[in-house]
Amino acid sequence: MRHMSVTERKSGCDDMEEVAIIGIGCTPVGEPWHKSLRNMAVESTWAAMDDAGVDQVDALILGNMSSGSFNEQESLGSLIADYAGLGNISAFKVEGACGSGGAAFKAGVMAVASGYHDLVCVNGIEKMTDVVGDNATKILANAADREYESIHGISFPGLNAMIMRRYLYDYNVKRDDLAAFPVNSHKNAVHNKNAMFRKEISADSVLNSPMVANPMTLMECAPICDGSASVILTTKERAKEFTDTPVIVKGCSVKVDTIGVHDRKTVTSMNATVTAAQDAYKQSGMQPSDIEAVELHDAFSIMGAIGLEDMGFVERGKAPRFAAEGQIGIGGKLPCCTFGGLKARGHPVGATGIYQIVEMCKNLRGEGVLDIERGLTHNIGGTGSTVSVSILGRD
Ligand code: COA
Repeated sequence: MRHMSVTERKSGCDDMEEVAIIGIGCTPVGEPWHKSLRNMAVESTWAAMDDAGVDQVDALILGNMSSGSFNEQESLGSLIADYAGLGNISAFKVEGACGSGGAAFKAGVMAVASGYHDLVCVNGIEKMTDVVGDNATKILANAADREYESIHGISFPGLNAMIMRRYLYDYNVKRDDLAAFPVNSHKNAVHNKNAMFRKEISADSVLNSPMVANPMTLMECAPICDGSASVILTTKERAKEFTDTPVIVKGCSVKVDTIGVHDRKTVTSMNATVTAAQDAYKQSGMQPSDIEAVELHDAFSIMGAIGLEDMGFVERGKAPRFAAEGQIGIGGKLPCCTFGGLKARGHPVGATGIYQIVEMCKNLRGEGVLDIERGLTHNIGGTGSTVSVSILGRD
């Protein structure tokens, strides 16, 4: 018997429930020395439960990349369920490098859509600053191909700098235009009380900041930081019992690509983003022109540019100009990173995918900087080895 894919089942069967987000919560991103991993995960989980008005959930799914290495702590399902007072529920961790949050969100959506659980909390948590020196860079590099990439000393900034160099060459892009991505994210972080860097920067300061991996500068890299974000999911049918402003999950896809960049046909496009976006568009019945805002994975400015092109918003090689013309700003054609993105809100890796969902929910609930009906979130693990794309909308 041929087994149907999730996409086929979602579009072909009536017995999958539509999923709604009824509660959101997050901690400020930064370097909070007074809070531990568990304190932060519990704080955002309780905030999301309060927001939803629930005092218990059926399952807790945690997106986390590397608590074993950053904090010498595994068994997160049991730890956080215990300290959040949730008892012996179903609780476990999902890992997909910096894309762990997006992957955990998909696991939560599947749990509710299938009818397996009724009320699910998805938490993204990462505390990266408990290690000193270059250890964080080393731990992050574990998400690359150990035998062919990281063993030779290449880091994520290094891999992205090589991709950036190739992209600038292939499309003859003006180096300065890429600086528009961090400039936009920093501008949007000013209004976000949970952002790590709440200050505007200029394109000149991006280009003249210290070189991290040539040609990429410090101000084109997301910081190393701590954060936790949580959402509460239930069925669309039950959502109105809890809130007047449920956010509906219209599409949700996670795709993978080769882990090593060297095994790809091209490095200036990420196939996992292309296919995850296509899948999410198909599930939602939408196309790029229907999307009003994007929480974009701008861990490095080049990733933001390639992401916009891979998801069909801008022609190949044109995203930097699009950004430099102000089209990704609030009031532009496609506002991106509306709460500061990874660059300025911060990128606590395994938590990022859930921060993006929380922020898009705020925009869809009319509590953000935008008042929109349809938005997309884009979360990358590694250099595009695991990518999730979710499309959220108003009821
Ligand atoms: N953006 C803006 N400012 C930053 C920053 C960033 N990304 N990273 C650090 N800073 C600031 C710090 O706040 C500090 O400012 P202060 O002197 O006013 O306190 C200063 O720069 C030096 O900070 P430090 O922690 O010593 O920087 P660093 O050189 O150790 O690290 C990077 C800088 C860019 C190398 C580091 O942030 C990094 O590796 N980022 C990428 C993380 C990553 O790979 N994530 C996974 C992506 S897939």
